[in-house]
Amino acid sequence: MDTFNNDVIVKEIKGRLSIINLIESYTSVKKSGRGFVGLCPFHDDKNPSMHVDEEKGLFHCFSCGAGGDIFGFYMRYNNLSFPEALTELANKANVEISKTPVKPKDNSSVGLLYKLNKAALTFYQKTLALKEKGKAAREYLKNRNMSQELIDEFSLGYAPSEWDALAKFLAKNNIPLNLAERVGLVVKRKQGGSYYDRFRDRIIFPIKDLEGKVIGFGGRVIKEEEQPKYMNSPESPVYSKRRSFYGVDKSRDFIRREGRAVLVEGYTDFLALYTSGIKNVVATLGTSLTHDHGVILRRYTENVVVLFDSDESGIKASLRSLDVLLEEGLMPRVVPLPEGEDPDSFIKEHGVEKFSELIEHSESWIDFFIDRTLNRYRGGSLTMNQLVKEVSALLIKVESPVERSLNIKKASEKLGIRENEILSYVKHGTGRGKYGGSKTASYSSHEKLLLTVLLKFPTLSSVISDKNWQEFIENQEIKSILEEIVSGGVHDVSNLLVHFNNQTEQDLISEFLLSSDGITDIDTAANMLESCVRKLKAAKLDGRLKALRLEIDRTVKDKDQIAEKRLLKEYSDLRKQK
Ligand code: UTP
Ligand code: MN
Repeated sequence: MDTFNNDVIVKEIKGRLSIINLIESYTSVKKSGRGFVGLCPFHDDKNPSMHVDEEKGLFHCFSCGAGGDIFGFYMRYNNLSFPEALTELANKANVEISKTPVKPKDNSSVGLLYKLNKAALTFYQKTLALKEKGKAAREYLKNRNMSQELIDEFSLGYAPSEWDALAKFLAKNNIPLNLAERVGLVVKRKQGGSYYDRFRDRIIFPIKDLEGKVIGFGGRVIKEEEQPKYMNSPESPVYSKRRSFYGVDKSRDFIRREGRAVLVEGYTDFLALYTSGIKNVVATLGTSLTHDHGVILRRYTENVVVLFDSDESGIKASLRSLDVLLEEGLMPRVVPLPEGEDPDSFIKEHGVEKFSELIEHSESWIDFFIDRTLNRYRGGSLTMNQLVKEVSALLIKVESPVERSLNIKKASEKLGIRENEILSYVKHGTGRGKYGGSKTASYSSHEKLLLTVLLKFPTLSSVISDKNWQEFIENQEIKSILEEIVSGGVHDVSNLLVHFNNQTEQDLISEFLLSSDGITDIDTAANMLESCVRKLKAAKLDGRLKALRLEIDRTVKDKDQIAEKRLLKEYSDLRKQK
């Protein structure tokens, strides 16, 4: 990516678009003091905790910590990568970027790929409606309780049982087949170089992004004996499985409204719930739940009910999803279905009422996890020690301290182990949650102050640049931001955010930038920096001394006199330094 060109474009866009105007189109904000406040769309916000600073071009939520500039906001809200956000915001701002391509290979044709997908979808929809050709497919959908209304709402279609019906249709409409190949709609023949359709004789489920643009397809056979049951679009410039949910464009407002999302495995599960009136549902697409999925869900709600198939792989996937969801700061519950059922088959057999009851009686994640893991313990494939470790690894990730201690209590009761013992695992565990209380503990107040001052006065980076600063900064995100500033790569701090596509770093930068108002005088700032450096060095030294004392104790116990002597010398040298 051409960083310099990007910097220029970003600046231009920021100059033309107001962050208030942009955010206002997603959530309501009102004037408060010097800035604006509003309900944060990135967590379930009850009181307005998102602050927007028009002058600085930044937003920051004091509750969930989300923050950034207009790009950060737009990327997070719409689930886009930086180049994608750049393209769209440039469009909104009427800034020309075609002469300075962001991603020379892809960018020029991304828009075309969406159009192409849309054209293919129209073809599939029309085919489903054809009197003869679409008949078997319509029968199939009818047998599966999918109404015409549902077919229309979700733009379901049918790929005919021919080798190149779509290829011919696209060619007739002057759409280059090599583009269609890039989104996986057609496949090139090894011999002769002609193209054939990927989806043949299949029901088509289009996958859409939040704006309703078609990014990919799932295709299901209508003859049960055919293999594989589902075929999906491959990854492409417009489709990333790990960041996409089926149906979220339709369901996200219901999820926000209900304050809860129901997570299922399949297209048909999604549609069965949706038609039954349970519309706050999302489905992953033939992958297990990823961290990216977790981040996306958290924008809409903290509460997720996991409703996977009740086969062995479904249970495994449920257990794994708990880990991801807890780590992303969500509060999962699980609905165990009777053996061999999935949500779609359950509703068909037992009706919606019974199904809603199941959801209302979902199990807390800790019950579900311990019960399933106890089975492994009883079966002898797990020791009690390992079991407690596994449970603790999840408990560490629980964001709310109250929830965490309630769950520790429950784990203690279920396992017959004292709370203190579980607590000691939780305290010393290594699996730090992203949120789980560790967020503020993960950097020291002096690290924070140091970065805040430098964000305000980047030219002062010379104060730390010759001081081996890498050695006394512990927090990795702060370190990487400082590296960017010290290396002189940042001419303009308002553009700093562009250099980080990691949300943790964006959150930190905007939080610190917004708290830098009190620092106004450059000489005072320089003094503050010097003092931070001294304190951080001293803290580092103290840590080292403490570790040395422990090592020395050990050498005394082991009667290792050579090592003892060496360590004692190191110790006294360090004391002198101090
Ligand atoms: P299932 O096998 O549970 O299918 O796979 P299903 O959703 O219940 O489908 P029906 O009701 O039999 O029609 C769950 C999900 O896993 C992916 C699909 O996304 C599917 O919805 N999958 C499954 C594939 O990608 N390929 C396959 O061959 C099977
Ligand atoms: Mn299923």
